[in-house]
Amino acid sequence: MWLYLAVLVGLYYLVRWHRERQVVSHLRDKYVFITGCDSGFGNLLARQLDMRGMRVLAACLTEKGAEQLRAQTSDRLETVTLDVTKTESISAAAQWVKERVGDRGLWGLVNNAGISVPSAPNQWLTKQDFVTILDVNLLGMIEVTLSLLPLVRKARGRVVNVSSALGRVSITGGGYCISKYGVEAFSDSLRRELSYFGVKVALIEPGFFKTAVTSPKILSKTAKDVWERASSEVKQIYGEKFLASYMKLTERIEGRLTHDLSLVTDCMEHALTACHPRTRYSAGWDAKLLYLPMSYMPTFLVDAILTWGFTRPAKAV
Ligand SMILES: NC(=O)c1ccc[n+]([C@@H]2O[C@H](COP(=O)([O-])OP(=O)(O)OC[C@H]3O[C@@H](n4cnc5c(N)ncnc54)[C@H](OP(=O)(O)O)[C@@H]3O)[C@@H](O)[C@H]2O)c1
Repeated sequence: MWLYLAVLVGLYYLVRWHRERQVVSHLRDKYVFITGCDSGFGNLLARQLDMRGMRVLAACLTEKGAEQLRAQTSDRLETVTLDVTKTESISAAAQWVKERVGDRGLWGLVNNAGISVPSAPNQWLTKQDFVTILDVNLLGMIEVTLSLLPLVRKARGRVVNVSSALGRVSITGGGYCISKYGVEAFSDSLRRELSYFGVKVALIEPGFFKTAVTSPKILSKTAKDVWERASSEVKQIYGEKFLASYMKLTERIEGRLTHDLSLVTDCMEHALTACHPRTRYSAGWDAKLLYLPMSYMPTFLVDAILTWGFTRPAKAV
């Protein structure tokens, strides 16, 4: 019985491996638009796809970022500046893309731009702190997608949305996890809708990687700023001991970061170039071995794991 089972499992993986290594044809004629290419995953993906010969349309937040990227890539790669929180900026970028892709349409849209601060316990934050993150990570992604979908439909192409392992397990307060849960929900409904039009939607769910988004320096500074302006009542119920332990935890992130960003960009590349892309890609061992299993655990167990050993607020009952 065990032998039959082992053979069946082996066969399943063999068929899956064979299916997943089939690549779409004429990659050199295909256009891919990527947001957030100044640094991190977006920057590496733009260079990676350019090396592969695809036609990369890279959107950067700053002209400086765009200039640096152009200096490192071939003449085929073109850049545009885009702030995903601004409707005029999105409309101008969509028009720019339309002029380039023409009747071929847009093969790939990679919604990668994102921010992670301010992140802190919810009670330290204001509504505006949540809005700041949701504007970029969720509403920005939605507006870019809606603006470019007619071009993606024309090419029967792909939408690749960058979520996070924190779009499965909410480990911190603030807008970040909320935004990534939103990205998951948006992508799930979009995938079903677009299946009627031959467009595939993939989600990338990385664990913790070393980029600006996970910089302990930036995370600690913004958490400290938020604490400074919190009400005296909040400061009293949490206390300085809690703050110190929270800051220590934030600084310790450094040791848990994966340095090889290609684990993420290889997933993005597969989603764009494979005939049969996956619906979800978990990137990084922490995502695969910790957050993914945790997302299937009973809530009481996840709550116990995430609060175990952590300093309690001063006025905890
Ligand atoms: N690093 C991780 O561990 C991790 C894990 C899971 C998911 N992610 C997600 O991966 C994506 C890429 O992040 P990353 O880790 O590569 O960090 P990153 O290096 O900071 O990249 C984020 C990019 O988004 C750009 N950006 C910020 N605000 C923008 C706006 N309003 N409009 C357009 N672009 C904007 C940034 O530009 P500037 O550089 O000019 O600020 C930067 O190029 C994000 O969606 C993030 O949430 C990251």
